[in-house]
Amino acid sequence: MSQTLPAQTSSAKILATVITGASSGIGEAIARQLAEQEKQVLVLVARRGDKLAALATELKTQHGVTVEVIALDLETPGAAQQLMAAVQARGLSVDTLINNAGFGINDLFADMPLERIQGMMQLNIVALTELAHAVLPDMRARRQGRIMNIASVAAFQACPRFAVYGASKAYVLMFSEALAAEEKRNGIHVTAVCPGATRTAFHDIAGNHGTFAAKLMDPADAVASSAINALNAGRSVIVTGLLNKPLPFFIRLLPRALATWSAGIMVQREKPV
Ligand SMILES: NC(=O)c1ccc[n+]([C@@H]2O[C@H](COP(=O)([O-])OP(=O)(O)OC[C@H]3O[C@@H](n4cnc5c(N)ncnc54)[C@H](OP(=O)(O)O)[C@@H]3O)[C@@H](O)[C@H]2O)c1
Repeated sequence: MSQTLPAQTSSAKILATVITGASSGIGEAIARQLAEQEKQVLVLVARRGDKLAALATELKTQHGVTVEVIALDLETPGAAQQLMAAVQARGLSVDTLINNAGFGINDLFADMPLERIQGMMQLNIVALTELAHAVLPDMRARRQGRIMNIASVAAFQACPRFAVYGASKAYVLMFSEALAAEEKRNGIHVTAVCPGATRTAFHDIAGNHGTFAAKLMDPADAVASSAINALNAGRSVIVTGLLNKPLPFFIRLLPRALATWSAGIMVQREKPV
């Protein structure tokens, strides 16, 4: 779905906020809050174009914002380049990139189909990195820009049953902190957001119900609001949720094997599904 964009001069592109994974959960909550707060052109990205189109209509009606929808599978190699081409073709330049799309699966690594593992790495790591790389030249030229990368509390220790997912989020956290340090001098803020368990479709997709982690869930709205506040404050890392905040500190005090074991306990299912 494409709506009429504001008038554009030949020299200046219109600044936009790109949100991946905006069709549900945390990404959808971020889209709603940014539409209310900022009025910048929003570009919503996910595979389910129908859900994005419905959200776009709602945000336009409620907040008078311009919303573009790009239905795309970011697990496909080359999808990040495709997305950037689609953004540019609309006369837009990315001022804010919200790298939120991601998934995990609660299973033993050896039992997971290789294609799911490859898709997870492509989405959680490769697409996120390629999008950040693609938006930086324009941001540097303007000496302004914001990148939010959604990591997880899974980033702070190894995660049995989420081996690749946890490692992918550790990558997101380390990558984001390094990028924040590199780009600060260029006026670009990079924020890694580390939510704990959050009430979204993530847990249906992961097969995470019946675990201890799934009992202590924060609402997606609260996670989105902490994430946006941290981005606006120029913080490089935010752990969302009161109970989760001390986690990185305590994990550093534990022997690594104990930290790994406790992460595994959190996602062990009470009953086999
Ligand atoms: N929920 C939690 O407990 C939790 C905790 C820590 C971190 N996180 C992270 O938070 C982020 C958002 O997840 P969520 O909890 O909001 O889960 P969610 O409700 O399942 O949302 C995931 C979003 O990613 C999109 N997506 C998935 N695969 C995609 C693909 N191949 N191409 C394009 N878009 C894709 C989905 O849209 P389509 O299906 O329409 O493509 C959806 O909009 C993820 O990075 C997740 O790892 C979640």
